[in-house]
Amino acid sequence: MSRRGKFITFEGLDGTGKSTQLRKLAAALRASGYKVIETREPGGTATGEKIRRVLLDSATEGLTPLAEMALMFASRAQHLAEVIEPALDHGQIVLCDRFTDSTEAYQGSGRKLGSEAVLELHRVLCGDLQPDLTILLDSDPAMSLGRARRRNRQSADWANKGASKNVDENRFEQQNRSFFSRVREGYLAIAAREPQRVVAVDARGTPAQTHWRIMDVVGRKLRLSARNAKFHHGL
Ligand code: TYD
Repeated sequence: MSRRGKFITFEGLDGTGKSTQLRKLAAALRASGYKVIETREPGGTATGEKIRRVLLDSATEGLTPLAEMALMFASRAQHLAEVIEPALDHGQIVLCDRFTDSTEAYQGSGRKLGSEAVLELHRVLCGDLQPDLTILLDSDPAMSLGRARRRNRQSADWANKGASKNVDENRFEQQNRSFFSRVREGYLAIAAREPQRVVAVDARGTPAQTHWRIMDVVGRKLRLSARNAKFHHGL
């Protein structure tokens, strides 16, 4: 690890268990002595969380796909400047629940805006920053979505992160099945295009099984064990 830390992103359809896995990985890394920041998109800053409310609230009506994409990037540009870049400059490990691959999968494929627009905005607005590793949690779309819808009905997600309860985050989950199959195809295309960065992890097992798979990938890909043997022994 040079002066810079490591940037690890979690991606996948709604309800694949990204947030749970991100928390488990953060705990394991901290137990091994690493400084870890947990964050998410859209959101991650005070301004970003306001943008998140607009984007995810099902009361937000008539948002065009282009406006939606612009808001995702507005949140991201702020997040990079305020949180991600400073943490990386301090040599920390940043674990981020979703990043630009989400925009490519959801707005590029799901909303049919195309990958090129997303990649171009990423270059202009995000300095083309690429994660060191992206963990793509792959699961059965119907299963994941059912889980996400149940969870959002209960409005409990992120409650332990200080987010207020009973927020409505259903706008995307109301999309139809063909939207989510396009999103999944979009993700698989990114993984095929960038196999060095993106590792698909089977998320159909128990949370513990998925966690061990992720530990294995992180240990191998980022050689974190070389810096702290405890991480490797924890596998
Ligand atoms: P998230 O809170 O991660 O939802 P979940 O925990 O259900 O996976 O993300 C919120 C929603 O925002 C999710 O439906 C995906 C969508 N999204 C986009 O469409 N584009 C983006 O660039 C990002 C970051 C998220």
